[in-house]
Amino acid sequence: MKCRRCKSPAVIDVRRHNAAFCKDCFNHHCTEQVRRAIHDFKMLQPEERVLVAVSGGKDSLALWDLLLKAGYQADGLYVGLGIGEYSNESGRFARDFAQSRDLKLIEVDLPQQYGFDIPTGSEAARRAPCSACGLSKRHLFNQAAIDGEYDAVATGHNLDDEAAVLMGNVLRWEEGYLARQYPVLPASEGFAKKVKPLVKLGEREMAAYCVLNGIDYIIEECPMAAGNRHLGYKEILNQLEEQSPGAKTAFLTGFFDRAHQRFADVAVEERQTLQPCAHCDAPTTNDVCAFCRLQVRATGITIGTTS
Ligand code: AMP
Ligand code: FES
Ligand code: ZN
Repeated sequence: MKCRRCKSPAVIDVRRHNAAFCKDCFNHHCTEQVRRAIHDFKMLQPEERVLVAVSGGKDSLALWDLLLKAGYQADGLYVGLGIGEYSNESGRFARDFAQSRDLKLIEVDLPQQYGFDIPTGSEAARRAPCSACGLSKRHLFNQAAIDGEYDAVATGHNLDDEAAVLMGNVLRWEEGYLARQYPVLPASEGFAKKVKPLVKLGEREMAAYCVLNGIDYIIEECPMAAGNRHLGYKEILNQLEEQSPGAKTAFLTGFFDRAHQRFADVAVEERQTLQPCAHCDAPTTNDVCAFCRLQVRATGITIGTTS
């Protein structure tokens, strides 16, 4: 197997590109895919300050590394979710990465600062752990970006993640989610801009990027995610990709290019009903935002008396 660019021995093949790469050319490939994603979707301007949400996993640490190499001013944000040893470990990987490169890492701790963790919070609110976790992360990423006056929050969602989420949204025709599923969501009143610069890179490429570049990351998956729907969709998409390389990219980019705009009206309608949360001021379609409602159910605090 020879590198497509320089013909020296290859270390990885990327079937959907019908290509193999040596280490240097693979790094060039990843850099290029991030540059193209940022350019094609007009995600970031060179001078913008970016807050990278880092979980300690391969995608977000690789993303932080790639954004810094591309010249962006990028700080990290780690959210401690209180998922036992998994959270302790993932925090260590995020901190070690930041310390070893002298980078700024902002930390938010859900149990310490908000009085609940994901396992107990999701149980008290009778929500699936990943749903309670997802809404908490979205809220806390946005809050940290606004507090720190960052121009954008970047997350490590990759091609596999986004294709699996799209499959879930299409299977249920979730119009609201489809309207918001895009690699860049512009800033609006109370919302920081959100960007996903890894949409053109797969899970396997991000693991290889970390290994080849000496980035240590948490390998274990979140224990609460076992059996969740998206893992099932990923398996199905992997089977499709095996039979027909490029299937995931075609599915996802076809949606972005040809279908996403059709759901735009739903997003506009939702935005018109937004108002500040009575408790925390975050934009919400209800009186109290979903995060504060979760906090109330998880901790028993009374809204209006606590802040
Ligand atoms: P997940 O929702 O676990 O699939 O993660 C998607 C993206 O969210 C990751 O690539 C990170 O950018 C970000 N993320 C997930 N968990 C955390 C966390 N605990 N702290 C900060 N960012 C996170
Ligand atoms: Fe959120 Fe696992 S990381 S439920
Ligand atoms: Zn709120």
